[in-house]
Amino acid sequence: MVRYRHVASDGTEIIFRELVKGDAKACMSFINSFVDERRSGLLIDKKVTLKAEEKWLESQLSDTKARQIVMLLVELDGRIVGSCHVHRLPSKHRHRAVLGVALLKGLRGKGVGEALMRRTMELAVKRFRGIETIELSSFAYNERAQSLYKKLGFKEFGRVPRSAKEGDEYFDEVMMRLELSQTSPRDE
Ligand SMILES: CC(C)(COP(=O)(O)OP(=O)(O)OC[C@H]1O[C@@H](n2cnc3c(N)ncnc32)[C@H](O)[C@@H]1OP(=O)(O)O)[C@@H](O)C(=O)NCCC(=O)NCCS
Repeated sequence: MVRYRHVASDGTEIIFRELVKGDAKACMSFINSFVDERRSGLLIDKKVTLKAEEKWLESQLSDTKARQIVMLLVELDGRIVGSCHVHRLPSKHRHRAVLGVALLKGLRGKGVGEALMRRTMELAVKRFRGIETIELSSFAYNERAQSLYKKLGFKEFGRVPRSAKEGDEYFDEVMMRLELSQTSPRDE
């Protein structure tokens, strides 16, 4: 299992690590924290149950084994405070992968998102043979996410108008893609 120590720009020591059996409860608390946050940046709008999270964890572990997904969690004092995943699309989309990333409020703006994305993408390129692009999307209001993605080389290729609705507000979705100039990735 991959495990890295990382120090955030304010000195906070965190761990980036892969999922293990037994992570369901901590992952559930993490993801449910975004439900009550206005403009959280994520799609989730209903809390998940432990049963649903256990099922989700099982499928993530099996997809990791099958090299269809790479996921790193951020751990701080035994709690999950962030995550980043890259999943490979199937069939004739196999050369494409999609990334998602999220950190709890207290950890944002300290360089963690950037380090976490770099580590996760590095691992995905090693484990997935032949991926050529990594895609992601963010809501138009999420300027922090977009500047991070641009810094990492992602370029906008389109927008979905009124993609999401929160209360009475609609948000466009900004689609971005990173072209990987990959020659011969090694398996890890
Ligand atoms: C989006 C997110 C992953 C970014 O991670 P982060 O740790 O906050 O970002 P970092 O501190 O690594 O910043 C990296 C770059 O992003 C940009 N950035 C950081 N904070 C910013 C801010 N407040 N405003 C604008 N750009 C900002 C900068 O370009 C920064 O690089 P620099 O420090 O060299 O200037 C994180 O804020 C987050 O999880 N937000 C909530 C959930 C979410 O929006 N997920 C993404 C859904 S698409």
